[in-house]
Amino acid sequence: MRKKFLAKTLAALLGVGIFTATVPEMEIVNVAAAKSIAQTYSLNFDATRGVEKTLTYEGRQIKFIAYENIVYVKNPANVAAQSLSIYVPAEYLEGGTINGYTAKNAPIFMPNGVGGYMPGEIKPPTDNDPMSKGPNAALVALSRGLVVVSPAIRGRTTVTHGVYVGKAPALIVDYKAAVRYLRYNKNRLPAGDTDKIISNGTSAGGALSAALGSMGNAPEFEPYLKEIGAADERDDIFASSDYCPITNLENADKAYEWIFYGENKYYPAMWQLQDLKARGKLTNPNLKVDDAPLDADSANNPVEVKQAVDMTAAEIKISKKLRDAFPKYVNSLKLRDESGKLLTLDKNGNGTFKDYIKRKYIESAQDALDRGLDISGADWVIVQNGRVVDVDMTKYPAAATRMKAAPAFDKMDLSSAENDEFGTADNSPRHFSNIVKRNSGGAMADAEQIRLMNPLNFIGREDVTVAKHFRIRHGAVDRDTALAIPAILALTLQNNGVDVDFFSPWGRGHSGDYDLDMLFDWIDSICK
Ligand code: DHB
Repeated sequence: MRKKFLAKTLAALLGVGIFTATVPEMEIVNVAAAKSIAQTYSLNFDATRGVEKTLTYEGRQIKFIAYENIVYVKNPANVAAQSLSIYVPAEYLEGGTINGYTAKNAPIFMPNGVGGYMPGEIKPPTDNDPMSKGPNAALVALSRGLVVVSPAIRGRTTVTHGVYVGKAPALIVDYKAAVRYLRYNKNRLPAGDTDKIISNGTSAGGALSAALGSMGNAPEFEPYLKEIGAADERDDIFASSDYCPITNLENADKAYEWIFYGENKYYPAMWQLQDLKARGKLTNPNLKVDDAPLDADSANNPVEVKQAVDMTAAEIKISKKLRDAFPKYVNSLKLRDESGKLLTLDKNGNGTFKDYIKRKYIESAQDALDRGLDISGADWVIVQNGRVVDVDMTKYPAAATRMKAAPAFDKMDLSSAENDEFGTADNSPRHFSNIVKRNSGGAMADAEQIRLMNPLNFIGREDVTVAKHFRIRHGAVDRDTALAIPAILALTLQNNGVDVDFFSPWGRGHSGDYDLDMLFDWIDSICK
């Protein structure tokens, strides 16, 4: 109450220009941001604000109405980061039908644009996506009769009035708030079924999509949602599509070393080097940074980058500690495969859980063979008479290449994107893994902040509504996180009765939205 009063007073003072006349220039920027905090926004969707647009997809004209840059909470911490756009196929405004859907029952496709735990921007439909150089998921979704909602989302670098307002778990709070905005406006929206909301995201955005799907209506988010003036509505969703989710961060270092232990050279991705440079954390003078904007090929491509770095003695030492800790973690989860078999690891890291991971790679390679691809270059795959019979996990690390020194996520020197994500409002990075914190010292993130970022703390709870359907993809040569991490998510969901479509596409590295026809076929299969 008191806070609100102060904010209103500040806004009133700004209105007559007292502050701007007396403070230095740097301060004016911050005060302007404070003004944006003080302003209250209406949650009522205004259906008169639509603009008709047309794009071409596969030779067809896709006509849609765009309702853009709508603030989705009453008291945004950051106006640009808490706005969304809605795109509706034009036919629905004339009572038409597309792909068997109508204005009333069209699913709502709600991708997030988060990457690297940075702020996510609104992604309008386009036929020339800067990453893929082709149509983006939003345009394909419209062509298939889906309503598209694209929210901006706070990220680890979002600043308002000098304060970092987008650290964990702000991204989940915002995605939930956007869902609540849609539910609040369900009778004002021109089209779309708010009980058929489907999230989509890649990497950090995949983790976010998984979080939205796993944490529906979780009461512990209530104070965060109240603080920004989110609508008082449900925030569970129908389905979640997650490409290479960088999730379960406090355990991901162990999973990474379970795979990559013994591989003591790493090949950083260019986006990582750019990110380190931007934050003044690039300490290795031998590493060259290409400042050109990245596309889907250059962002994660180790072969083009070709900069090998040797792990230090300290990194090799912690690699072993982390690897040795993974079996105990896996065994604590009591995961079961489709046939009900318990998935465990012995102290050497072997056992039924490893067999399960191998089966996912075998399935991937077999699928590639069945599609007529030549997989003979993959020396870690064992083929006999046209069948993939085994994979050699001792050869896999060299084939996939290590991208991150140990620890992969919670860096001893607090330099990673994730340390930044778990940082403070004044931008000090923090640890989030007990092993790393014990080993290297430095500040630890709040236990609650860490807990709220991990879907595994929510799945199976009575007071949480988990999405009915998940589609999880993690490329067979993705080296940003170990396949074990999305596998643990998929198995946990499955073991709690959720319908999960989990697959590791052959030859794929760290990327998303590469199989849009199949993604939207899956959406049709669960919605119709
Ligand atoms: C992303 C990739 C990573 O390897 C990581 O650690 C965090 C985020 C990403 O692409 O979003």
